[in-house]
Amino acid sequence: MLDHNYDGIRELDNNLPPWWIWGFYLTIVFAFVYLAHYHLFRTGPLQTEEYNIAMQEAADQAKARELKMKDFVSAETITALNTPEALGAGKGIFEKNCVACHGAELGGSVGPNLTDDFWINGGGIKNIFKVITDGVSAKGMISWKSQLTPKQIQQVASFILTKHGSNPVGGKEPQGEKYVEETISAPLTDSISVDSTIIVNQ
Ligand code: HEC
Repeated sequence: MLDHNYDGIRELDNNLPPWWIWGFYLTIVFAFVYLAHYHLFRTGPLQTEEYNIAMQEAADQAKARELKMKDFVSAETITALNTPEALGAGKGIFEKNCVACHGAELGGSVGPNLTDDFWINGGGIKNIFKVITDGVSAKGMISWKSQLTPKQIQQVASFILTKHGSNPVGGKEPQGEKYVEETISAPLTDSISVDSTIIVNQ
């Protein structure tokens, strides 16, 4: 009981409840642990450091994504590869999977000759990529997309193109249509910059 008395209202001086006391001591202990962990021994990352680590992680992930995208090839974006590694890999894939039907020299047996100008399903890297990916199952050419990655299909398709015109001994007679590689013949014109002298003369 405290000794002041206001109009008969007295104040009790109770002991603090144990849970409060222990909670209070705990915060003190926590403060020292915190201080030691982050500022004395520096065993934990501070905010700035944590931020930098997170940024670095995000950058690594972005890089990994980019690398994956680079490996991703589709029939629309595909281009023929010409590095020795890619063509070597393509040759290996061909020898393992395709020789039985297209011949070791690509002259054809069950499948058509892949070295001539004539293509049943269209020539050029895009068509070849599409045929290998999706197959022509009704004609006995299976789809390879479950067994080869798009990158591998790109490699083997590029390898096939290098054999164009090699005219192997015992090659099969041409089948399909003669294929002429499309080239952009029209000059690219810039529709925005108009020659002003023409306008004046009109
Ligand atoms: C089981 C036999 C068989 C195997 C194995 C095979 N092909 Fe074929 N392939 C064919 C047949 C048959 C055709 C003709 C399809 C048609 O008539 O449209 C063909 C067509 C093609 C064509 C299109 C030719 C054209 O004139 O349009 C390409 C390119 C091709 N194959 C590549 C490959 C590649 C690459 C492999 C290996 C990954 C492979 N083939 C494995 C049987 C096979």
